[in-house]
Amino acid sequence: MADKSKEYLIVAAIDFGTAYSGYAFSTRSDFLKDPLKIVTNTWQGDTLLSHKTVTCVLFDEDKKFKAFGFDAENQYADLAIDKKHTKYFFFTRFKMRLFNQTQLQRNFLLEDEMGKKMPAIDVFSACIRYLREHLMEHSRKQVSHIADTDFRWVLTVPAIWNDTSKQFMREAAEKAGFESDQLLIALEPEAASLCCRHLPMTTIKGCSGGFVPFAPKSKYLVLDAGGGTIDITIHQVQDNGSIKELYAANGGDWGGTYIDKAFRDLLSDIVESTLMDDFQHAKMDDYIGLFREFEVKKRKFKKDMAEKITFKVPIALDETFEHKNKKSIKDHIATKPQYNGNIIWTVDKLRIGADIARNLYTKALDKISHHLKSLFTVDLVKDVSTILLVGGFSESEMLQCMIREQFPDKKLIIPAEPGLAVLKGAVIFGHDPQVIKERRCRHTYGVGTTVIFDDSIHPVSKKFTANGTDRCKDIFSKHVEIGQPVLVEENQIELTYTPVYDDQTKMTFGVYISPERDPMYVDGPSCKRLGSLEIDIEGTGLNRSVTVQMTFSDTELHVAGTNNNTGKKTLAKFDFLG
Ligand SMILES: Nc1ncnc2c1ncn2[C@@H]1O[C@H](COP(=O)(O)OP(=O)(O)OP(=O)(O)O)[C@@H](O)[C@H]1O
Ligand SMILES: *[C@@H]1O[C@H](CO)[C@@H](O)[C@H](O)[C@H]1NC(C)=O
Ligand SMILES: *[C@@H]1O[C@H](CO)[C@@H](O)[C@H](O)[C@H]1NC(C)=O
Ligand SMILES: *[C@@H]1O[C@H](CO)[C@@H](O)[C@H](O)[C@H]1NC(C)=O
Ligand SMILES: *[C@@H]1O[C@H](CO)[C@@H](O)[C@H](O)[C@H]1NC(C)=O
Ligand SMILES: *[C@@H]1O[C@H](CO)[C@@H](O)[C@H](O)[C@H]1NC(C)=O
Ligand SMILES: *[C@@H]1O[C@H](CO)[C@@H](O)[C@H](O)[C@H]1NC(C)=O
Ligand SMILES: [Mg+2]
Repeated sequence: MADKSKEYLIVAAIDFGTAYSGYAFSTRSDFLKDPLKIVTNTWQGDTLLSHKTVTCVLFDEDKKFKAFGFDAENQYADLAIDKKHTKYFFFTRFKMRLFNQTQLQRNFLLEDEMGKKMPAIDVFSACIRYLREHLMEHSRKQVSHIADTDFRWVLTVPAIWNDTSKQFMREAAEKAGFESDQLLIALEPEAASLCCRHLPMTTIKGCSGGFVPFAPKSKYLVLDAGGGTIDITIHQVQDNGSIKELYAANGGDWGGTYIDKAFRDLLSDIVESTLMDDFQHAKMDDYIGLFREFEVKKRKFKKDMAEKITFKVPIALDETFEHKNKKSIKDHIATKPQYNGNIIWTVDKLRIGADIARNLYTKALDKISHHLKSLFTVDLVKDVSTILLVGGFSESEMLQCMIREQFPDKKLIIPAEPGLAVLKGAVIFGHDPQVIKERRCRHTYGVGTTVIFDDSIHPVSKKFTANGTDRCKDIFSKHVEIGQPVLVEENQIELTYTPVYDDQTKMTFGVYISPERDPMYVDGPSCKRLGSLEIDIEGTGLNRSVTVQMTFSDTELHVAGTNNNTGKKTLAKFDFLG
């Protein structure tokens, strides 16, 4: 585990995003002078320069890494023109696959754009390795004589990810060459919060008239609207400047790429989804171009736009359609009364009515609004009156308007370059990780134990007899309750357990989580077993005991058991990736 109090010469952060990724770094001496003196890279995109590059990666037919980012996308599009792309592996927007994978395992395979599979861990680690190497080369040009051991690395992950996904990222990073004791995992909205605290107020939209959002005691909701996730955390600044989380991280997968999906669904509705799939496979370069065009156009959508929006569309789409259906898309649309002049297709242009365009945002915005509404009914959150909007998607006028309209009594603040807040904040976090003092538990944690059987409470099915005493098994012994504040890196309450057989030589505890406050049994439907802790107990008799402690760090739960008679400590290891 990384030692948070250690100071490093240079802190480097990698934000591996769903849509865009990048890196940033700063030296300790620069950080002490100005925390925002952070170096980022400038990536050359198609037409634009940007501080993050697209999250795309290309491997050759031997699964050897070829390119990352805009380069990978361009090379793949070129390969597609030459019809050579089918042998290659091209992955894009794959980070979200870790979020709701039902059986996320170490050997899980990722499907590329053409449906070919590669181990996900190789894909993730190749990307992280590329960014790491690019960064090291970049930093060596700026700071002379730095050794590998001078770096502290920070990798960001969405706060709403569970332990399984976080462990996957950590392992991918270790595979990419990071030493685990130099690596910190930062939660994306937390990083953004740290960055915004240092920004000059004049660069923050919404901070006029002497309003100071980050003064001691102030509470604010950080909404990181990224490409994949809407990631929310609620913070309060303490008197000494450290940060306390007021409510457990929450959110969902309704980020900016939700809009892209809605656009693809619209196209599928017009030309039928099998045709879209055929088109994607046969004309990958055009397919990539189509979504690049959408990426540019969707950013200009406004709540009160009235005019139709025009997209350049590849001629090949019309050709593919005509080849299959013996008529053009234009003629096909004419037979669909529901489009009624609101969708117009000429050979290489698609024009859609303003309502249809706005509608592409509706589902995502409804989900976000619905989620925020229910969040603001929670007692702990009710009086939070500031929303700090960060992440690339937060630049959307559609999203900003929705929040202003639906939450008129909240103050909305948006920093300049909201898409970089996570990245810069991750560097700041790396210099001072102890600034996050307190978090809220996202689950109830406990271990399985037994109690004296009581037939007025316990079912007979759980009865067993040990040393002449009837006992009830599978009892959930709660250590930490969901929503409870826990000090980061500090021991939570310790509970002591005794053996039930006097000749027992070890005690084994299952470690469980549950979304309930007071789960009764560890085999209840809501409970999930994380792993187990086994402690040797020497001697004999029932008068022996062990004490179980739980500690939370950023990404990991540590469970330890201490033998009371010998003082020997045993740590549990959890493997969420099975
Ligand atoms: N002006 C805009 N209007 C609408 N959407 C935008 C705008 N600018 C950026 N986006 C969208 O924001 C998303 C990118 O934001 P960001 O870079 O924060 O995401 P990410 O870090 O890659 O994703 P995540 O944090 O979820 O992993 C993309 O889906 C992009 O289309
Ligand atoms: C989440 O899972 C559902 C089905 O289980 C799937 O339809 C959806 O696309 C997934 N979402 C993401 C972002 O992967
Ligand atoms: C994390 O979520 C996935 C699916 O959503 C689930 O399969 C996995 O068991 C979860 N892991 C933990 C540790 O809760
Ligand atoms: C800041 O104050 C909190 C309580 O208000 C305390 O727990 C924490 O240790 C303090 N941090 C520092 C760095 O002094
Ligand atoms: C427990 O059972 C063992 C035999 O199995 C016996 O020797 C011992 O005295 C019993 N102890 C108690 C406290 O009942
Ligand atoms: C049980 O242990 C406690 C403390 O460890 C000790 O004070 C007590 O005398 C012991 N009782 C027996 C019966 O051994
Ligand atoms: C075991 O040790 C813990 C802490 O060291 C102590 O709180 C507890 O009372 C001890 N239990 C017994 C039975 O001795
Ligand atoms: Mg992000």
